[in-house]
Amino acid sequence: MGDIPVGSCCMLVLVCFQVLSADVHRGHYIAAVYEHHVILNPNPTGITSRRSALQLMNRNLDIYEEQVIAAVKQVLHRLSCMALKNQVFLVVNLGTKQPCTHSDHRCPPDGRYHFNTNVVFSDSGTLIARYRKQNLYFERAFDTPAEVDYTVFNTPFAGKFGVFTCFDILFYEPTVKLIKEYNLKQAVYPTAWMNQLPLLSAVEFQQAFAVAFNINLLAANIHRPDLGMTGSGIYTASESFIYYNMENDKGKLIVAKIPITPRRETNNNMQTCFSNSPMDHQVCHKEHQEAHCEKAETGAQEAPPIFHGEMMYDNFTFMPIMEAEGEIQVCSNTLCCSLSYQRLFVSKELYALGVFDGLHTVHGTYYVQACVLVKCGTLDYTSCGQEVTKATERIDFQLQGNFSTAFVFPLLLKSGITLDFADYLGWEKNHYVMQKKGASSGLITAGLYGRWYEKD
Ligand SMILES: *[C@@H]1O[C@H](CO)[C@@H](O)[C@H](O)[C@H]1NC(C)=O
Ligand SMILES: *[C@@H]1O[C@H](CO)[C@@H](O)[C@H](O)[C@H]1NC(C)=O
Repeated sequence: MGDIPVGSCCMLVLVCFQVLSADVHRGHYIAAVYEHHVILNPNPTGITSRRSALQLMNRNLDIYEEQVIAAVKQVLHRLSCMALKNQVFLVVNLGTKQPCTHSDHRCPPDGRYHFNTNVVFSDSGTLIARYRKQNLYFERAFDTPAEVDYTVFNTPFAGKFGVFTCFDILFYEPTVKLIKEYNLKQAVYPTAWMNQLPLLSAVEFQQAFAVAFNINLLAANIHRPDLGMTGSGIYTASESFIYYNMENDKGKLIVAKIPITPRRETNNNMQTCFSNSPMDHQVCHKEHQEAHCEKAETGAQEAPPIFHGEMMYDNFTFMPIMEAEGEIQVCSNTLCCSLSYQRLFVSKELYALGVFDGLHTVHGTYYVQACVLVKCGTLDYTSCGQEVTKATERIDFQLQGNFSTAFVFPLLLKSGITLDFADYLGWEKNHYVMQKKGASSGLITAGLYGRWYEKD
């Protein structure tokens, strides 16, 4: 491709196929992602000159080369694909540079573009694709390509894979367009993602993305707990194999056998909202008779107070959950969220239903519509929206909102940054609905995170 690697960081995503046991693996392939411990600029926004950023990048080059070689050796050693290394496709993220001339008015003064690039090597070791990052996240060392890269590569074992990176996952270009246009079922996603609770922890959103688009996602984050970076995984629409570790500095290889065609099994459970739980009937009832349902269920109880609080730098409208069971609704702009809940035991923990419908403007500009049930930091209302990693309370719930966008990412994060899947997800008339019962551990976040791309 004419790009010269200059090295920035390294993340590996490998996909391979076991020919020897094709019978056993029919309909599946083996995916591997490596969360690598890497040396990074600790303060990406603090570098003021392109020159110093490039120096840092070059310093990383040496480490990068060593680590990639070591990692590939290790990976190949541990994978049963070792003997079949020709069947391995490798995706690596690195910095690349491309010479430009000054007749090109976008050409930087040093005569070179620098891109944050994913490169793809085929099973024969050939460079077959490259993707240059579109949505830079305060990366002064890098340029945005003049035209959006829509990158896919083809494999003999699982068809087409789409490629995008990091912050791209939140945007229409190129990510959503790529998935729709190529009708993708597989995507590889190297990232350097700083976890942000309660809504944008790496594994939380990676899973939500795989579920929302019904695709397999191979996501390799950088391992730097000191910078809040950890959280990689291999996700199908109904299973997640993840690594999240804030405790030590060790990288991790994740290997999983996954179906070529992702299936969203949870959705078969319930196409309508008729099942035998009283909670469902209550909610169904409410769909048709908004005002009466709540009254019938909660009697003469006073409506809980509404308050505002900052979560993820956005001004959310909250309502606490106060009873052992009940139903509440909160609105913001044109989005109304309702929650029907039943607490399995009432702990000394505060939970609140939050809604936000507006333009997010801190660390990037993008329009969000969100309905979320979160565990608050303390028993104080002002703590709702804070980062929480542990919870004991298990709650059966149905959460829904009348979103204006079709792109709703279902978040379900449990105590200790573990993941769970909803029992039901889907549209019912103009409401997107998530339902979960019988959880085995405490709830941190249950959310419907909508992205209204047209309003960015
Ligand atoms: C949040 O929004 C509410 C209602 O629109 C407003 O009254 C409040 O001042 C806002 N809070 C902040 C911190 O902007
Ligand atoms: C959502 O529901 C509320 C309350 O019924 C309504 O005012 C609002 O217009 C609805 N939003 C959309 C996008 O339909």
